[in-house]
Amino acid sequence: MLGIKNFRLALRLSAILVIMLVVLLSLLFYLLDLQFSYKSRILMIFLFFFFFIFSVFLIHYRIERFIQNKIKNIYKDLSPSGVSMSQQIIQSDMEVLRQSLRKFADDQKLEIESLKEKENYRKEFIGNISHELKTPIFTIQGYVLTLLEGAIKNKNVREKYLKRTAKGVERLIYIVKDLDLITQFESGIKTIDRSNFDIKQLIENVFDLLEMQAIKNKISIGFDREYQKSFQVFADEERIQQVLTNLIVNSLKYGVKNGKTEVSLEEINEQKILVRISDNGEGVAEEHLPRLFERFYRVDKSGNRKAGGSGLGLAIVKHIIEAHQEKLLVESTPKVGSEFSFTLQRASVEINSIQD
Ligand SMILES: Nc1ncnc2c1ncn2[C@@H]1O[C@H](COP(=O)(O)OP(=O)(O)OP(=O)(O)O)[C@@H](O)[C@H]1O
Ligand SMILES: [Mg+2]
Repeated sequence: MLGIKNFRLALRLSAILVIMLVVLLSLLFYLLDLQFSYKSRILMIFLFFFFFIFSVFLIHYRIERFIQNKIKNIYKDLSPSGVSMSQQIIQSDMEVLRQSLRKFADDQKLEIESLKEKENYRKEFIGNISHELKTPIFTIQGYVLTLLEGAIKNKNVREKYLKRTAKGVERLIYIVKDLDLITQFESGIKTIDRSNFDIKQLIENVFDLLEMQAIKNKISIGFDREYQKSFQVFADEERIQQVLTNLIVNSLKYGVKNGKTEVSLEEINEQKILVRISDNGEGVAEEHLPRLFERFYRVDKSGNRKAGGSGLGLAIVKHIIEAHQEKLLVESTPKVGSEFSFTLQRASVEINSIQD
């Protein structure tokens, strides 16, 4: 490839060479006192001219070869795999080369940054996991060792310690299951399995399942009003049940004594249904709201957190709603209460009318 700049350089060098040659020869002929005929002078001018042209092309060719060899080595060193850069045409134009190297450097910088980010994310994730697993593992270890050291013979404490051990194991399983689900969502393995179902019916099932816990926490759970008709949606029933469970359990965990958790349903348009879960619990301060759905994020970071939450529930909710390509919103005021809401795709009208 002929670089214009290299060509100019070759012209300049050749011109200098010819001038020097003319000066030297003139000096030599002057000193030797040689005389030339008119014809020989014309011939010499032609010879100089051809020398000039030949020198331009020779110098230009050598510069190009030299630069290309050097650049080839740079390309080779920069892309050891021989993929990205070696496939490009090797440029001898410095400006083009500079631009392509800058692009290459920028790409590499981006790649390094994303790798660093992933590495930090991995470190943080593993750190959080080990931190969360430590508590139940040490609890289990403590009770098992106490039993082995003789407590097993004491009828009064035996059952109590075994029950606590079982609770620790239960907690471990709960964390591992949640982590497994989050990892599957984050690595894109988990897909959603949509079908048509009645969301009102599903919410009633969740109320039934959580009734005991609600009584224990002295919080009433129910719909905000009576809904006569069914609300058919097109979504992954099992996953939406999990979303509802996580949100309602949170409203029970972070609720106040004699509090209230209400679920409301609203057809916002032809396409969507809005499900709202509101409580009059302790609420969340505004500064925590942007990070609430991050995994392992808890408002109360002290040890005395309620019911041993690990901060995974809302991260799972977010993943499930995002996998449905729906919206998830939160509004909360400390000491007043919280409202978590999400949209769902309505089942097609034909199915609605058949099932109604
Ligand atoms: N309804 C709510 N009212 C007040 N605070 C809430 C409510 N829901 C969630 N939070 C706050 O958000 C944090 C994160 O909730 P999330 O469900 O992700 O975790 P968790 O309940 O602590 O643990 P897990 O759900 O994994 O058992 C909670 O620690 C709590 O502080
Ligand atoms: Mg929770």
